Amino acid sequence: MKIIEIEGGRQLSGTIRISGAKNATVALIPAAILTDEEATICNVPEITDTDALCDILKILNVKVNRSTESLVINTKDMKNVSIEEEYSKKLRASYYFMGALLGKYKKVEMYFPGGCSIGARPIDLHLKGFEALGATITNEKNKYIVEAKELKGANIYLDFASVGATINIMLAAVRAKGKTIIDNAAKEPEIVNVATFLNNMGAKIQGAGTSTIKIEGVDHLHKCFHEVIPDRIEAGTYIIIGALCGNPLKIDNVIPEHVDALISKLEELGINMEVGLDYVTVLNSPEKLKATNIKTAVFPGFATDLQQPFTVLLTQAEGRSKVTETIFENRFMHIPYLKALGADITIKNQTATIDGPTKLKGTEVVATDLRAGAAMVAAGLKAEGTTTITNAEHILRGYEQIIEKLTAVGAKIRIKEI
Ligand code: EPZ
Repeated sequence: MKIIEIEGGRQLSGTIRISGAKNATVALIPAAILTDEEATICNVPEITDTDALCDILKILNVKVNRSTESLVINTKDMKNVSIEEEYSKKLRASYYFMGALLGKYKKVEMYFPGGCSIGARPIDLHLKGFEALGATITNEKNKYIVEAKELKGANIYLDFASVGATINIMLAAVRAKGKTIIDNAAKEPEIVNVATFLNNMGAKIQGAGTSTIKIEGVDHLHKCFHEVIPDRIEAGTYIIIGALCGNPLKIDNVIPEHVDALISKLEELGINMEVGLDYVTVLNSPEKLKATNIKTAVFPGFATDLQQPFTVLLTQAEGRSKVTETIFENRFMHIPYLKALGADITIKNQTATIDGPTKLKGTEVVATDLRAGAAMVAAGLKAEGTTTITNAEHILRGYEQIIEKLTAVGAKIRIKEI
């Protein structure tokens, strides 16, 4: 097991550069198999989720050439074999191979995906989308066989604007016959990044980033070169850390519109920031932060992935704040550990009520999932004394070089294996 240890209470200053977006990368890698040639993806973050997807590519006999930050994926000798559970369960995004393999071979055999335990996370909307395109689904325990004689474009309405279902249906539909329309599609920037990648390979996708996506199927996708967008959740996490301990802290390589909701909330708290074209600098935080409420929502609303780190900041605000989680039913697992660090928080249904400010004092905590882990890092940096975070593997799934990046701006943080 990996453990992160932080000596907190230090001010952080300097610049942190944001890496390529995890949630775009994890869809781009499976999407790349749709070409019959070679795809080059650059600005790929070195995180363990990337490694897990490359392992699946290797099982499919796809050649993967990795250099600093870029991946060259060659599908010339690819084979459509079953993706076993030990690989699918390593991460959520393994499910993008369902759409991609179905699109390319009209058949896929794989197991239910893994990922953070933040709710039941069914995949019914993905499967309904595949069925609408003409596929039949056989499901035994955790194994799925999805196959079609032919995929035919269809009109698909998503009951919820799911990120995963939108991308997965897009992946299957790009090589279907005729036109597919996805209504109530998710609008997250990662979806736009994936659609741009597919279009660069010759797909015909319009409307990504809006709630109606139109896809005209094509027979062949060609070679292409593509760049991953900066990670808005990594950026948001470090901006929150800046608000907790920055003096000043510049977060570079950010698309500020992607973190608009967070910036508005930080302004409500009273944080002084400079927002540039591709950076956000947290100049300083006032002695007293104002309490505020947040409610998570689909993009461009307040991102559920930032809810957990943001809660840490609210423990430092004067008065009562409320956090309502609307996307995942089990995303408050960081709260007991924040309480162990000294926070005053109660949970009722999907709302956490935080009374502040409270002094945080280092202790032993657990990274129960990726963003809960990020919240523990943020809290540990603010807390007086030593915070020990166990199960730190979760954090490495989504934050490239987190130890190095924080050390470079003055944090006392180290990782060890026990
Ligand atoms: C993606 O998860 C991200 N993961 C999540 O990032 C992120 O929190 C989430 O989108 C919301 O933005 C990846 O990109 C790999 P959803 P995803 O489908 O695709 C329900 C992180 O920390 N739903 O938009 O799983 C679902 O249960 C993570 O980086 C169904 O009911 O999210 C949830 O309540 C964790 N049926 C809601 O929709 C379905 O078929 C939103 O899920 C699909 C989803």
